[in-house]
Amino acid sequence: MKIVQWNKRKRKVISKGLDMKKSKEMNKNLLPLDQYLQHQEALPTLKFITCGSVDDGKSTLIGRMLYEAQALLEEQLLNLQNESKKYGTQGQNIDYALLVDGLSAEREQGITIDVAYRFFSTENKRFIVADAPGHEEYTKNMITGASNADLAIILVDARKGILEQTKRHSFLASLLGINDIVLAINKMDLIQYSQEKFDQIVDQYKLVLDSLNFNSVSYIPISALNGENIKLNSSNLAWYKGPSLLNFLEIFEIESDDMKSLRMPVQNILRPNQDFRGICGMIQAGHLRKGQHIKIASSNSISKVKSINIGDKEISKAIKGQSISIELEKDLDVSRGDLIVSQEDKFSISNLFEVNLAWLSEDKCFKGRKYLFKIGTRYIKGKILDIKHKYNVNNFEKLKSNSLRLNDIACAVIQLDEDIPFDTYRENRETGSLILIDPVDYQTKGAATILHSVRRATNIHKQKTNINRENRESLNGHKGKLIWFTGLSGSGKSTIANALEIDLHYKDIKTYLLDGDNLRLGLNQDLGFKEEDRVENIRRVGEVAKLMVDAGLYVLASFISPYEKDRQMVRDLFKDEDYVEVFVSTSLEVSEKRDPKGLYKKAREGTLPNFTGINSPYEKPKNSDIVIDTDEVSVKRSVQMINSYLGL
Ligand code: ADX
Repeated sequence: MKIVQWNKRKRKVISKGLDMKKSKEMNKNLLPLDQYLQHQEALPTLKFITCGSVDDGKSTLIGRMLYEAQALLEEQLLNLQNESKKYGTQGQNIDYALLVDGLSAEREQGITIDVAYRFFSTENKRFIVADAPGHEEYTKNMITGASNADLAIILVDARKGILEQTKRHSFLASLLGINDIVLAINKMDLIQYSQEKFDQIVDQYKLVLDSLNFNSVSYIPISALNGENIKLNSSNLAWYKGPSLLNFLEIFEIESDDMKSLRMPVQNILRPNQDFRGICGMIQAGHLRKGQHIKIASSNSISKVKSINIGDKEISKAIKGQSISIELEKDLDVSRGDLIVSQEDKFSISNLFEVNLAWLSEDKCFKGRKYLFKIGTRYIKGKILDIKHKYNVNNFEKLKSNSLRLNDIACAVIQLDEDIPFDTYRENRETGSLILIDPVDYQTKGAATILHSVRRATNIHKQKTNINRENRESLNGHKGKLIWFTGLSGSGKSTIANALEIDLHYKDIKTYLLDGDNLRLGLNQDLGFKEEDRVENIRRVGEVAKLMVDAGLYVLASFISPYEKDRQMVRDLFKDEDYVEVFVSTSLEVSEKRDPKGLYKKAREGTLPNFTGINSPYEKPKNSDIVIDTDEVSVKRSVQMINSYLGL
């Protein structure tokens, strides 16, 4: 394997030290920077992830691969030699693990990099290794590392065989759409290079494969420590007739993206002057040629590509990963978030999907919650309609669950507020995956991969009725509206809501009061006070209130509704002018002193779990329309305040 290596910082590449012969060979192959970059650009790139723990010899394997591929600089090698003497676990020999673990230590010192990427190249290929460290947070790390990997190397300690973590890594790789697996069976030296034991491990792994979905699995016996079967085949493993690991990576055929359908989400539109209109975006799949006919997915309108530019350089063909701007012959209606496909492309449109959902946040995930979904360059509101089952990632068992915690993976149904053109994740990782963002703090909470769209989206249509909201409102003589009271138990919500209803009633306004305690006696009697139950409680109440507002009523809803996300979920169901939020801000101290139902006492005594304000949180609203502290404001005055806000 010839090496083309460029040291950007102009250090000499291995000229003395560990391997003089190798270094001479390398200097000979050293190219001037521009030639090197050109050469590199033209090389196919294999992206792979290594899965396994330090105990399996993962760091040693990566270190050894970098060394064997001569991707180390002189300085790194000398350092490694010195450090091996001082800290190594391999006597006078080089401890390759130090090379990788050194970086891990840096990581632990506060700079949190979930995945470390390492690069090396041979004459024919470039390699990017995603190294997802650690046992903990494995899901998050692996998702980051594997989301664009072509292949996974799963490391097995030959002495231990297939472990739970081997299954976990394989399962995650399969969920993340990795089609090709190398099972690298390491530490063969410690089992006397036994073919029999190797075969047993292969048989064990074949049982695991029954429930997974890979195109190819290759089994390679290695000793990372001794460098056996890493680059050169080992005479100790003469019974093994296949390629060494690096050789395998060299000959592995990377699936060509060229045959795939064109997918280019529009990032923005440039209009530097009257005559030029550039549509900018990155090609996520397929390719685009000058003169090709493209289609805008949202409108199905078609035009020919007049020019393609990267920066100010015109090109004739753009491929996956290139950020380009294109000029069309026709001035089509196109905006940020649209998807450009080629004219003949078929694609599906839906707003309801079954997905694999990985939860990446300490905040729990609940059925019913609303999120912002990022797909391509678009952000669309939507919600998790259902969590069908959670996976036990160690044994692939399906578990029933209403909520998800950090690192959980589940099969879920999501519903977006708008239709989108999409691919399944198997077809296209970029247009088949979504990121879930919290609409309150804008943090990424989860990642979803589309399995398929759910039919209901196309088979259920809104039924038109002859009598509509306007007709009902005109009969009632007033518009429908929701007045949502939130606050602690005992804060005075129900008292004010009740007084307001009397007042409205005498003003000939048709009302209905939805009260937390009352609904929990009927519609919501199956719900308790854990967070997931409260989410569902508020979701149902929101939907009921929506129907009642549609009936043209003044709906008064009195619920603790302690979570901002759930209040937001209700608010999103209504037009701005139909929703009024009243925060009854009476303090915990005052509410507890009142304790009308004796519940605070019970909570303090420890006999009432999850009681709001005591052992369950209340997130104070920041943007309520009206704020009333009943310790300072009388019931009568409270009613006046609301009336005046409503213009009554
Ligand atoms: S919410 O949090 O889901 O909005 P909701 O308003 O429906 O609660 O119900 C609150 C009422 O249930 C309280 O006024 C109180 O009477 C009663 N309750 C019983 N147990 C609890 C509890 N653990 N936490 C809060 N309220 C409780």
